[in-house]
Amino acid sequence: MIAPIAGFSKFSKDEKIEWLANTYFHDSETVIAMLKRYWNSDEKLQKLHDEFIENTITNFYLPLGIAPNFLINDKMYAIPMTIEESSVVAAASKAAKFWLDRGGFKATVLSTEKVGQVHFMYFGATEKLQEYFNNIKPELFAATKHITQNMEKRGGGITDIELRDKTDELNGYFQLHCTFETVDSMGANFINSCLEQFAKTFQAEAARFEAFSSTEKEIQIVMSILSNYVPNCIVKAEVSCPVEALTESESVDANEFAEKFVRAIQIAKTEPYRAVTHNKGIMNGIDAVVLATGNDFRAIEAGIHAYAAKDGRYSSLTHAEVINGIFRFWIEIPLSLGTVGGLTSLHPLVKLALEMLGKPNAKELMQIVAVAGLAQNFAAIRSLVTTGIQKGHMKMHLINILNQLEATEAEKIHFVNYFKDKTVTHSAVVNAFTAYKSEHA
Ligand code: MEV
Repeated sequence: MIAPIAGFSKFSKDEKIEWLANTYFHDSETVIAMLKRYWNSDEKLQKLHDEFIENTITNFYLPLGIAPNFLINDKMYAIPMTIEESSVVAAASKAAKFWLDRGGFKATVLSTEKVGQVHFMYFGATEKLQEYFNNIKPELFAATKHITQNMEKRGGGITDIELRDKTDELNGYFQLHCTFETVDSMGANFINSCLEQFAKTFQAEAARFEAFSSTEKEIQIVMSILSNYVPNCIVKAEVSCPVEALTESESVDANEFAEKFVRAIQIAKTEPYRAVTHNKGIMNGIDAVVLATGNDFRAIEAGIHAYAAKDGRYSSLTHAEVINGIFRFWIEIPLSLGTVGGLTSLHPLVKLALEMLGKPNAKELMQIVAVAGLAQNFAAIRSLVTTGIQKGHMKMHLINILNQLEATEAEKIHFVNYFKDKTVTHSAVVNAFTAYKSEHA
């Protein structure tokens, strides 16, 4: 068995790599060379990336692509997307172009409330706790003034603190359910700092509250943390057009297409197995923009999936209808995003991505991200109810298969051409490639 390593975090980067290569690999020299090949030649830039996390050994590349032609609220955008999956950027671009000719996307931010909670245990009379809370509430605001003053200058701050009795669900469990406005920052540090201060003050002052018995004075703080569930931080994006305008080619009947499209959405609304895949496709677009703009895609994923299950069953995040001959397709999702703070001012490519989007504020970014999700879903459903997903997907995947086969640039051009009118499958590419190689050996 491999021996545990002590003091690893104190090793230099070279020592870490050496330890890894010697401990887990046979050919340590190749491994070291490979890790170093991904280092940036600009030492300052590399150091910046090294310091984002701990124990960095190299960089892990993901492609940054752009989907142009997005008309959102009458403004043109090229949307940056960081993603490894082929077809996603192509699908987004295609949907953008399709809706560009039909009035573009409309997006609106409906609310921007962020949430954090102090979870605590109290075993005593609930009325006394309520009385204590009413007394101490102004003090909670006052005790966080040093944290909130800058945020208040920017138009944000703590919007409310509520005492919530959760004892029906867990004996002795109460919360301070707190809401915040964090303007253009995602606000995680701000919220968590406020919550930790609330917890301290709330616990300390309880010991001095005369109406409490000695056990009631012993409020036990369990934890203080923001919530990634933000059902009141909602953005809506939509597209619409007359049904007959949905026709793109002779082979697709607009009425049949609209009907099938709406059916596909209804299926995703009623069937969780489909809803998960349907929403995964939406997240292809959302995560890619969230990542490119330096936001926390895990937080976004967790919050959106919880929202998809808010009515007690996991369901579609998008909606579609045809009323009086008008096709309407929309998305409504929670998005807690920042355009200041975090990686936004640190990562050079994130800065570039935000600049490409015209330096949006958080609300504008919410709109752009929601549109990317809607566009992705439109493209996926359109393929699914017409040609099937594999036709387009495998065409895009062709280059990946050719790369696996170590095809030269000339061979890639040859096979992209060759498969223009043929079905791409992994085995079809391997067979054609092998035959070509033996013919040209
Ligand atoms: C693949 O990454 C995403 C899709 O499966 C989404 C969907 O089925 O709607 C194509």
